[in-house]
Amino acid sequence: MITRRKFVGRAAAMVTAAGIKLPVWKRVLPVREGTARPAAAKAEADRPLLLGVDYYPDQTPEKLWEEDARMIAEAGLTNVRAAEFAWGLMEATQGKFDFAWLKRSVEILHRHGVAVILGTPSAAPPPWLTSKYPEVLLVNKEGMTVQPGGRRFTCPTNKTYRSLSLKIATEMAKTFAYTPGVIGWQIDNEYTLQQHARCYCKHCREGFQDWVRTKYGTLESLNEKWGTAFWSQTYTDWRQVPVPLPSNGDPNPGLVLDYDRYQSHACASSAEEQLAMLRQECPKHFVTTNQVGAPLDTLNLREMYRNMDFVSSDNYPGFVQVFMPALASPEIISSMIALGHDSMRCVKGGKPFLVMEEQAGKAGQSFFAPQPHPGQLRLWAFQAVAHGAMGVNYFRWDSARFGAEQYWFGMLNHDRSKSIGFEEMAQTVKEMKSVGREGLEASYVAEAAVSFDQDSSWALAAQPGNAKLGYMAQLTAWYGSVAGANTGTDVIHLDEDLSEYKAVFAPVQYVVSGKQAENIRKYVRDGGTFVAGFRLGVKDESSQIVNAPLPGLLRDVMGVTVKDPVPVYTEKIGVKFGSQLAGADGQCVLWADLLKPETAAVLATYMGAYEGDAAITLNTFGKGKAIYVGADLDPMSLARVLRTVLAMSGTSSVIQAPQGVEVTRRRAGEKEWMFVLNHTPNEQKVGLAGKFSAVVGNAPSDGTLKLRGYDLAVLGRA
Ligand code: GAL
Ligand code: ZN
Repeated sequence: MITRRKFVGRAAAMVTAAGIKLPVWKRVLPVREGTARPAAAKAEADRPLLLGVDYYPDQTPEKLWEEDARMIAEAGLTNVRAAEFAWGLMEATQGKFDFAWLKRSVEILHRHGVAVILGTPSAAPPPWLTSKYPEVLLVNKEGMTVQPGGRRFTCPTNKTYRSLSLKIATEMAKTFAYTPGVIGWQIDNEYTLQQHARCYCKHCREGFQDWVRTKYGTLESLNEKWGTAFWSQTYTDWRQVPVPLPSNGDPNPGLVLDYDRYQSHACASSAEEQLAMLRQECPKHFVTTNQVGAPLDTLNLREMYRNMDFVSSDNYPGFVQVFMPALASPEIISSMIALGHDSMRCVKGGKPFLVMEEQAGKAGQSFFAPQPHPGQLRLWAFQAVAHGAMGVNYFRWDSARFGAEQYWFGMLNHDRSKSIGFEEMAQTVKEMKSVGREGLEASYVAEAAVSFDQDSSWALAAQPGNAKLGYMAQLTAWYGSVAGANTGTDVIHLDEDLSEYKAVFAPVQYVVSGKQAENIRKYVRDGGTFVAGFRLGVKDESSQIVNAPLPGLLRDVMGVTVKDPVPVYTEKIGVKFGSQLAGADGQCVLWADLLKPETAAVLATYMGAYEGDAAITLNTFGKGKAIYVGADLDPMSLARVLRTVLAMSGTSSVIQAPQGVEVTRRRAGEKEWMFVLNHTPNEQKVGLAGKFSAVVGNAPSDGTLKLRGYDLAVLGRA
C-alpha cells in the first residue's frame, strides 16, 4: 500500500527532479502516517475556486431557493456553505433524521453550478437534546451552568454531547458523501476559547484528571511540576485534582496553564472525532473548520488543524469599530485584521487558507456597525487574499428577519433587495477570478516572523504582573510595527524552523521551553536576528519561575541579565536612544526590565529614577544578533525601534508605503503577485520601481502607483 508519506515523498522527488520549485507551504507541510488519502492531491486540483457565500436554506422558505440559487450564480459566486446551524431541522427528535430538504436545496444549487460545503451542526444542539441530557451544558468560570438558547453552550468533554454530535454528522456524511455538488465539510462552527467558552463542569474535571494523569504519569511528578507544597495542595489521588473554579485566592498557575491546554485539547479532540468519521465516509471531500485567529483567540490551532485539509477563518473588520472604538482607525483595523490572516495562514505552514465568513455588510448582532465605506468590502476581501487566502465566502447571503442576528447584514437586505454593497462584492469575485487559481494558491512571501505563543498568552493572562499588561495587546503592537515595513510577516511558534527569516520578533515571550531556547540559540548562532520584548523567559512550561537570573534559558544568547523587573503604574519613565536607534526620547508605558549587559551593547537607557540602566541591548552571538527590548515603549518609539532593527537584519524588500497602505507579495515559481492596499480614505501614492502588469486595478506609471481612498491594485511581476 502506498502511504501518504511515500506518496508525497515520491511526488516531491519527481518535482525536484523536474526542476520545479514547490511553494514554501508544500515544502514544510507535516506529513503524518495514518492519514493516507491517495485521492487528496487530485481532489485539490479539481476543487472549484471557493468564492462563495454562507447560505441558510434552513431559514428561507423553499419557494425562494430557486431564486436564491439563480442570483448566487449570477453574482459569479461558485459555492455556498450551508447547514452548520440546522441540527433541529435535520434531527427534529432523537434518531429521526431528515435530510430530504437539504438534498433538495443542494440539487437546486448544483443545477445552477454552485458547489456546496456542508457544516456539521454541533455548535448549536436543539432543545430536545438539552432537555433530555442537561448534563451536556457548559459550566462557566463562575461555576454557573450556562443555559441553552444561544450557541456553544455545551461542554467540550461531555461524551453524550460528543457522541450525539458525531451521530448527526455521520448521518449527514453518509447521506451526502456522493451527492453531486457537495465538495467538502466544515466541522462545527468556531470552536473557541474566547471569553466564556471554557467549561468547568464535572465531566471536564474528570477529563482533565485523565489528561494530567497521561501527561505526568505519577502524582509525585504532577505535585512537583505544579509546586503543590504551596498552600497545602499536595494531591494523593488523581480524583482530587480540581479545575480552577473560584476558591478565595488565586489558583495554582501550573494548574491554570494545564487547564487552558486541556480545554483546547478537548475542542481539538472533539473535532478530530468528526474528522476521522468524515475521512472514512467522504473520501472525496475536503474537511476544515472555521475559526478566528490572533489576536482574538488562543485555541491551539496547530493541534486543531493538524489532520484537516486547510485552515478556514472568519473575517469581520467591522467588529473592531463596535467592540474597540478606540482602536478603530483604518490603519489599526487593517493591521489587526492582517494579524488574524497571517496567524491563520501559518497554522498549516503557510498553506493557502479559506475565509469561510467574510463581512458582507454592516457587522452586528443586537447592535450594528455602519455600512463599510464604498470600496472597503472589496478591500477587506482582497486583504485576505493578499495575506494568503485562496478564496472568500461572504457572510451571509440574505439578512435574517428573525433570530439573534437580525442586525447582521448580508448580500441581500431584509426585504431581499440587493444590499448597497452587492455589486461591489460581485465585482470583487470577478476580479479574484482574474487573479486566478495560480495567484490565489501562490505562497505568501515573508522575510520577518513574529512569535505568537499560546503558553505565554495563557500564563500571562493568569498573572499579568501589571494588571493592564495583556499578551494580545503586545502582540498586536509588535506585529503592527513589524508588518508596517511590508517585508511580509509570518506569525509563528518559536519551536518551528526559523532559518528562512531575516528577523524573528518575540513580544512578551514569558514562557520559554528548553526546545524553544535551543531553537532560538541555533537561529541566532547561524546568523539570524532575534528581537525579544520584556518579560522574556520568566517561566518554564509548568509556569514555574526559572531558577536562574532572567532571561533564564536565553541569558547567553541575549548577553544580558535583568537587574530588576519593574511594573510601571503612575511613574513617568523616559527612554533615551543611542545613535543606532536615534529618535526623540520615548516613554515606558507598562513595564521596564532594567537590563544589565554582560556581553551585549547598550542601544537605549532609562531616564529618571532608573537613569543609566539599560533599556535596549544588542548582543552579537555566533553569526547573528539578539536584541532585548526591555521597555514597554510608546507606539511611535516601538515602531521606529522594531523597523530599524528589521532593516539592520538585512531584509531586501522593505517597501516604503504611506501609513495605512499595505504591500504584500505571493509567489508561485518565477511568478509574483504584488498586492497594494490603501486602507485610508484618501488618495495615496506608492513608489514602486520595476516593471509590473496590472492584474486588478491600475499599474504604476513612472514608478508611482496612485490609489484612490480604499482602492487596491494587484500587480503581476514575472
Ligand atoms: C461568526 C459566526 C457566524 C455569525 C457571524 C456574525 O463568528 O461564525 O455564525 O454569528 O459571526 O456574527
Ligand atoms: Zn465541561
